[in-house]
Amino acid sequence: MAEKITGQNRLFEENEDLLQLFEKFQEIGSKHELTTSAELAEHATKVMHTLDEGIKSLGDVNAFFAYVRHVGATHHQVPGFKAEYFWKIEQPFLEAAKTTLGDRYTDNIENIYILTIRFILENLVIGYEESSQKPVKTQT
Ligand code: HEM
Repeated sequence: MAEKITGQNRLFEENEDLLQLFEKFQEIGSKHELTTSAELAEHATKVMHTLDEGIKSLGDVNAFFAYVRHVGATHHQVPGFKAEYFWKIEQPFLEAAKTTLGDRYTDNIENIYILTIRFILENLVIGYEESSQKPVKTQT
């Protein structure tokens, strides 16, 4: 699990602009790096938990859709978030899987992981997009 979390943290290390999306980070500034790391680690845990749960629930595709799409929708609370940001997790996730599985990461397993992460990410995006708040029309 530790390797997995390290792998996911690269999402933010390699995409520093994404940190701006964390309101708390903007308030705290760079002096309080420990708090920043704690926030990141906390979100990394949420991401890995979601991916684990998503994979586990694949046996019941309705439960899978409900769960993953709901997580996608929660990102409307994040100011400046764009659905495409979910895709930035793809490569870090695959690297984490490779590191964690070592010799067991065969070509066949790699293909399965690629299809799985893509399926999850597609559904995070759908969940986010389908729940997008449309502008409310004011009556005159
Ligand atoms: C596969 C990708 C991702 C997954 C599975 C994921 C998962 C989650 C989950 C489960 C939550 C908690 C939602 C709640 O209970 O309200 C959350 C919150 C949040 N996510 Fe993500 N997320 C992903 C990508 C991202 C990205 C790319 C960003 C920013 C660029 C981001 C920013 C946030 C923020 C700011 C919150 C609220 C604060 C927090 O709970 O840490 N997420 N995410």
